[in-house]
Amino acid sequence: MNKRETWGSRTGFILAAVGSAIGLGNIWRFPYMVFENGGGAFLLPYFTAMLLAGIPFMMLEFGLGHKFRGSAPKIFASISRRAEWLGWWQTLVAFVIACYYVIVIAWTVDYFLFSFTQAWTTDPKGFFFGQFLGLTDSPLHLGGVRWPILGAAVFAWLVAFLAVFTGIRKGIERANKIFMPLLFILVLVFIGRGILLDGAAEGLNWLFRPDFSALSNGKVWADAFGQIFFSLSVGFAIMLSYSSYLPKDSDVTNNACMTVFINCGFSLLAGIMIFSVLGYMAAQQGVAVKDVVSSGVGLAFITLPTAINLMPMPVFFGVLFFLALMFAGLTSMISITEAVVAAVKDKAGMSRQKAAILVCGVGFVGSTAFTTGGGLLLLDIVDHFVNNFGILLGGFVELVFVGWFCNLESLREYINEVSDFPVTSAWNACLRFVTPLMMGIILISNFIEDLGKNYGGYTTQAVVLLGWAMLFAMLVLSVAFPRWRGDFRQAVTVHHDFRNRRK
Ligand code: ALA
Repeated sequence: MNKRETWGSRTGFILAAVGSAIGLGNIWRFPYMVFENGGGAFLLPYFTAMLLAGIPFMMLEFGLGHKFRGSAPKIFASISRRAEWLGWWQTLVAFVIACYYVIVIAWTVDYFLFSFTQAWTTDPKGFFFGQFLGLTDSPLHLGGVRWPILGAAVFAWLVAFLAVFTGIRKGIERANKIFMPLLFILVLVFIGRGILLDGAAEGLNWLFRPDFSALSNGKVWADAFGQIFFSLSVGFAIMLSYSSYLPKDSDVTNNACMTVFINCGFSLLAGIMIFSVLGYMAAQQGVAVKDVVSSGVGLAFITLPTAINLMPMPVFFGVLFFLALMFAGLTSMISITEAVVAAVKDKAGMSRQKAAILVCGVGFVGSTAFTTGGGLLLLDIVDHFVNNFGILLGGFVELVFVGWFCNLESLREYINEVSDFPVTSAWNACLRFVTPLMMGIILISNFIEDLGKNYGGYTTQAVVLLGWAMLFAMLVLSVAFPRWRGDFRQAVTVHHDFRNRRK
């Protein structure tokens, strides 16, 4: 059997894990979430979620990857053959995310080019929806392919493909060693200048001014936990496969803490970056900051270009912002792709190269649907369902399974043997009670909300087809994949000692 690849250095692994965690979520979701949920007061639920759920979950995934050395399906199959489907569910979640995440990166690539001339014109909103996306009236009405988006998507897939194709050290580690330092430099340079803009301080005031009454709202706490799971890339196969390439003698706890702290620290930097710009924009337009804030696609492709039009050095700010978004996105995209490639490679007994060609090829075909005029609407629905149900369900079942049906204590002992510093039994309590409880609450409330009304006001047909039916198809495939024999049955040793909770 071939020896499993490993990371070349600890720094290489941390950069890759941080590269996966830091993504679009940190830049366009976090700042808005802070603003919406009590400003500075939101940091309390956020850091609570980080300590009680983020760090324990990250240690769990690093520990599982380190011990069982495989992709998500292989890890769960090693614990119990009947749990393999869970690994496939998480892998399919990653695959679907890859198909549309790449499109947002593609938009960023196009906007990076546009920022040299502010090609988004003086009407960035009209430009984005009209000229650029050619938005149709329904997600079921695709319209034609938008060629600049398709071209940029080819580029983004190619970067992810090359990184994964060339392997852990030569591809993924090297790409992160280039992109991640650059990302930090870009953001720091942006902040260095952005903070001096008129009104920037007012923007930061709006962002961090604490409204402690928000803390009594359950939704604020649910948002904090939800943000932590998505942002840390836990619960959807990624960190499991990344940590499976750790050399046998590497630490788990310290690596997990560093990854989480750097990710959350970066989110704060992103908040400062975005709100200094929004403060400036509000001052220029003579309105309150709350009148200009937005999140997601609207923030990146409408609000920011509008602000950049008003800025003293538009090319500088535009290039920096879109390049930062592009690097943040690409490093996450690489990790999402690797999670799927590793699973296919393990299961089919293929070479990494063949698995990369297969996964990226099929993924590219899948993502072409999002390059059409209906692409944004399609993306919106798929993203909503995958995030609100796909990731959360996979993470929830993982925690219940490992926490309640396996010997979690023996995993803690294993982690403590290899780590720089030990974790106490509070870790078990977080993973068995706090985190699944929060995930369960969020899942149920999402479920009730989505059953009550069609997400985003889309038609029932669109929501059923692109949301519920997609989730159902993923479930069917997750259950079907373990039956496909591949190499797994011989390759996997089931660890009965870990499976039986009480020895
Ligand atoms: N963790 C990645 C993000 O925040 C997926 O975008």
